[in-house]
Amino acid sequence: MGAKRCLATASGTTALLVSLHVLDVDAGDEVIVSPFTFIATYNAVLINKALPVFADTDPATLTIDPASIESRITDRTRAILPVHIYGLPCDMDPINAIARKHKLAVIEDACQAWLAEYKGRKCGVLGDLGCFSFQNSKHLPAGEGGAVTGDSDDLLDRAQAFHNCGRAFGNFKGPRPYFTRGSNYRMQQFQAVILMQQFDKLIKETEIRRAHAQHLTEGLKTIPGIQTVRLPQNSNPVWHLYPFRYDADQFNGLSRDKFLRALNAEGVPCGAGYHEQYFDGLLDEAINSRGFKRLFSPARLKAYRESFEELKGNRLVCNTTVAMTQNLLLGSRDDMDHIIEAVRKIHKHSAALAKAS
Ligand SMILES: Cc1ncc(COP(=O)(O)O)c(C=O)c1O
Repeated sequence: MGAKRCLATASGTTALLVSLHVLDVDAGDEVIVSPFTFIATYNAVLINKALPVFADTDPATLTIDPASIESRITDRTRAILPVHIYGLPCDMDPINAIARKHKLAVIEDACQAWLAEYKGRKCGVLGDLGCFSFQNSKHLPAGEGGAVTGDSDDLLDRAQAFHNCGRAFGNFKGPRPYFTRGSNYRMQQFQAVILMQQFDKLIKETEIRRAHAQHLTEGLKTIPGIQTVRLPQNSNPVWHLYPFRYDADQFNGLSRDKFLRALNAEGVPCGAGYHEQYFDGLLDEAINSRGFKRLFSPARLKAYRESFEELKGNRLVCNTTVAMTQNLLLGSRDDMDHIIEAVRKIHKHSAALAKAS
């Protein structure tokens, strides 16, 4: 990865928990989070009794819109948590510049982005700490597992201590010789063995996914109503899913649900990606809890809840994204042509499909 240090953890979630703790995200703090992500990103912040404050999603890139970050910073903000969702690198330069200006930490959620690159460096080493997942659906699976990457010995010593029941480690011995705050977030050795066997396979499969994703993009972008993702300059994604945005107007009003059904019927497994999860009740449950009510003023919690309505880019992304799973990209070149032809066929018959129930 090009990182100086790496700590294996029990999962991607625990990698995030370790990182938030050692970067001093504490009860009553706020963390700027990408809303278009797996729920574990929100939960890791909530478990630290901090508020995940959502920046907006850029509909062209599907990642955090750097221009939407600064207006969300308050005197409680401690960190920015961008997510390289689907293995698509976030535009990290402006994010890091904002973090430097406001003295905030940057934790990359790279749980779906093993080997993804941004300006010649790997995702996960672009901020203060990077977090990875090796859960079973991932490109590098071990049942469960995770990792924290970084260049700071101080942070990684703290992370090592925290994930190992608080046992003193390296330069970080804490005020007393033996224990600091910590938990058990360790990876098993047999998981590590399973992972280490797969590095070559990951590199080879990543190249196949990249080549096939490029072929898909070239074909799909010629079909009206299909918007393939825009990538930051000089970046190289790894395509955990292959997503594009779907414009029903260009398909004679054929709803995304019907489009998904038609594409599945053509033998192309696909789904809708993430929805607007902040309306599901998780955050209401958190902000109505005794702890959050003690930590934040009623006015802050009210404004926070209302701010979900401002996430217009994210709403558009949630309502219009179509995503295919990464294993499809490991098929043959003919399979990719089949996918492109299937989408073209649906476009051709979209008026009739829109009328059918
Ligand atoms: C973006 C993202 N963040 C965090 C996680 C949490 O990882 P894990 O399931 O290993 O706890 C995942 C994976 O599930 C993820 O995709």
